[in-house]
Amino acid sequence: MGLFGKIVIGLLPIMPKFIVGWVAKRYVAGKTLDYAINTMITLGNKEGCCFTIDVLGEEISSLDEANFFLNEYVRVIDAIVEHQIDANISIKPTAFGLLIDEEKGKEKINKLLSKASENNIFVRLDMEDHRVTQSTIDIILDMHKKGFNNIGIVLQARLHRTMNDIQNICDNLGTKSDFRICKGIYLEPEDIAFTDYHDINNAFSESLHLMLKNGAYCGIATHDKPVINDSLKQIEEFGMGPITPDPRNNSGPIREGKGPGYEFQMLLGVRGELRRQLLKQGHKVRVYVPYGEKWYEYSRRRLRENPDIAWHITKALLMPWSNRR
Ligand code: FDA
Repeated sequence: MGLFGKIVIGLLPIMPKFIVGWVAKRYVAGKTLDYAINTMITLGNKEGCCFTIDVLGEEISSLDEANFFLNEYVRVIDAIVEHQIDANISIKPTAFGLLIDEEKGKEKINKLLSKASENNIFVRLDMEDHRVTQSTIDIILDMHKKGFNNIGIVLQARLHRTMNDIQNICDNLGTKSDFRICKGIYLEPEDIAFTDYHDINNAFSESLHLMLKNGAYCGIATHDKPVINDSLKQIEEFGMGPITPDPRNNSGPIREGKGPGYEFQMLLGVRGELRRQLLKQGHKVRVYVPYGEKWYEYSRRRLRENPDIAWHITKALLMPWSNRR
């Protein structure tokens, strides 16, 4: 962690909530679903991007809290349908109780999947820290076995196990494999994860290649220019591209609401100019839109987990005009 990061982290406990809030407003749609809907309608009309919605909150301490997330996501699905927004949902399994009672957590996810499936909406399981990597993978495999095809997973390039996980999921799900590949936000220990920037980028590239080779659908989630350039090169090498139908003969039928075998994904408020550039080139770009009462905890946790974000906070404070979506 750089000196800047250390200072900002040190100041966190005494940092006034309004400062954290002022910075967070760029990255979080607002406290309620209405804010998320307005953000998506405005951005969608302006730029033509699509969305995935995240209700803020992670590990819970009682199963009652899981009911809140289930009910809130049901409201999200109804709102997507009512406003005809090009959006799907991203959920955190621990918010459904995965670490309290795995079976009960799965039951709740199952209920949400049924609701999403009735409305033709895709559900992405976000990937949390290494304690739940395997159980999160098990959930998607189980749900596919139960006949739900509207579910996909996130894998983190930084984890050593990821290449095996990709192959295992592709062997099990075949043309229904649907991934988001990202670097991984959790700073995992060295014995299970790459920690060097270049090693993580190489692992990202290899992961994407293995997914594309297996015919899987790939959500490429990054704001890192070299990683985006490498991904564009790989897409071209596979004969894929914007507007062109997916030419891979192992990729299965066209996926409704998705790109031609791939899409780019970015967080709300991060690197808007890069997002617009990709959209202009015709690529499908999905924006991850978090909202909820837990915005403060979310922002503080993200900061503690990945102190590099301290730089973005410092920049926003020193150059307030740069703090826009
Ligand atoms: P990198 O960290 O190298 O950042 C490249 C550049 O992007 C930075 O220099 C900076 O300019 C900008 N940038 C990146 N993050 C920023 C931020 N928060 N604020 C401002 N600028 C920022 N992780 C995970 O473990 N599980 C998950 O389920 C997901 N899901 C997910 C969905 C989507 C749509 C995205 C884009 C990302 C995730 N992530 C995630 C987070 C991901 O693993 C990773 O931590 C961040 O995307 C940052 O990595 P980059 O690839 O952007 O590169």
